[in-house]
Amino acid sequence: MPGDKSLSHRALLLGALVGETVPVAGLAPSGDVAATAEALRRLGARVDLATDTHGQLEGEVEGPLGEASDVLDCGNSGTSLRLLCGVVAGIEGLHVLSGDASLRRRPVERVAVPLRAMGARVEARGGGRLPPVVVHGGDLRGVVYRSPVASAQVKSCVLLAGLRAQGPTTVISPLPSRDHTERLLAYLGHPVSSRLDEDGHEAVTIEPGALRAAPVAVAGDPSSAAFWLVAAAAGAGSIEVRGVCANPTRMGVVGALRRLGAEVGSTLTGERAGEPVATLTAAPASLTGAALDGRLVVDAIDELPVLAVAGALSRDGLEVADAAELRVKESDRISVLAAALGALGIHVEQRADGYRVAGQQRPRGGIVEAHGDHRIAMTAAIAGVLGTAAVEITGFEAVATSYPTFLADLRGLGGRVEVLDAG
Ligand code: S3P
Repeated sequence: MPGDKSLSHRALLLGALVGETVPVAGLAPSGDVAATAEALRRLGARVDLATDTHGQLEGEVEGPLGEASDVLDCGNSGTSLRLLCGVVAGIEGLHVLSGDASLRRRPVERVAVPLRAMGARVEARGGGRLPPVVVHGGDLRGVVYRSPVASAQVKSCVLLAGLRAQGPTTVISPLPSRDHTERLLAYLGHPVSSRLDEDGHEAVTIEPGALRAAPVAVAGDPSSAAFWLVAAAAGAGSIEVRGVCANPTRMGVVGALRRLGAEVGSTLTGERAGEPVATLTAAPASLTGAALDGRLVVDAIDELPVLAVAGALSRDGLEVADAAELRVKESDRISVLAAALGALGIHVEQRADGYRVAGQQRPRGGIVEAHGDHRIAMTAAIAGVLGTAAVEITGFEAVATSYPTFLADLRGLGGRVEVLDAG
C-alpha cells in the first residue's frame, strides 16, 4: 500500500516543528502529501523528498518555520489546510491558506473558532465559513475547547497550536477520533495526555514545549487497503495486504466487514513511529448485513463509500448512521455515492447522516462521474470489479490525491483496465 496519507502529513508537519533534521520514509507519493510539503517550503522549511525503490517518498524535513512567502495552496487536502491553520496560528505574521474548488467548499469555522479562542485572528470567506482562510499568527494562550464534531483534523489543529501556546490546551470531542498526532508527538518526545470520560467523550491535553528529532517511517494506508479488502470479501478473490497501519482508530473497515459476516484477518507484525503495523487478509464470504453507527463510523469514515458496495452484495444490506460528516468531505459523499452507485443500478437511500443500501444488488455496467473525489472514483472501480459489466469512470485522475498507483495495483491483481483518455 502507499504510505498512509494521514501519517504522511503528520510526519512532515511535526518534522518541520522539531528545529533539527528529521529523516522521513514511506510517505505516500500523493497529491495531498505534496501539498503539505510545498506549503511547508513556503513557510521556510527544507523539505527534500525523493522516490524510494517501492515508489514511496523518503528524505528529510527541517524547520524552523516563519511567515509564509506566498499563499499556502493546500490543493484538494482538507488535512493540510486544517492542520496548517493550527501550525501557522503560532507563527508571527500573515498566512493565507486556500485550495482547489472542492476544498474551497469545505468548512473551516470548525478550526477558526478554537484558534480565535486561543488568541489568533482568523478570517475566512463566506462569513468565516470557507477558504481562503487568513490567519494572523502570534502569541497564543491555552484553552479548553469543546469541539462539536469528532474530527481528528480539528483535534490536531488545536493540539498543534497548543504546542506553542502559553499554558496547557485541552480538546474535548464527542467521540474519539484517529490519534496519529498524539502518537507522533509522543514518539518525538512530547507525550500528551488522553482520556475517555464515562459519556464516551475524548479529552486530550497538550502542554507547550519542544519536540526531539527521531526518524519517522510511515506505515501503509488502511484506507487504500480497504478497496482490496472489500473486493476480496465481496467475492473477487483472496488478498493479503502487508505493512498496513493498524491503529485501532483506523480499523473501522475491518470491524464493519466483520459485522457484515466477512472473515478479515489481522496479524500485528511490528511498529513504526509509534503506530502498530499489521498484515491484513480477506477472502470471499457470504455477507449477511449490518448497521453501523457511533464510534465504528468515525473509525471507518473514509471507507464508508466502498463499504456500500459490500452492502449491496450482502444478503440484507448495509445501513450507516451518525455519518453526517460525509457531507463535507472531498464531495458530499452521501449524494455523490448515491449518484455513482445509482448509475450502476444500485439504489442507495440517502439519509441526512448516512445511507441505507439494500442487499442482493449486483452492480451493472454504466458511467460514473467521480466529481473530483478520489474515494468515489476507486469505489466505482471496485463496483466494476464485482459487477456484471464494465464501469466507465470520468474524472478518474482524482485518485492521485491518495493512491496514484491504484490502477497499476488493480491490473496487478488481475483487473481489466482500459484508459480511455490519459489527457
Ligand atoms: C483525517 C481525518 C478525517 C479523515 C481525513 C483525514 C486526518 O477527517 O476523513 O481523510 O488525517 O486527520 P475529519 O477529521 O474531518 O473527520
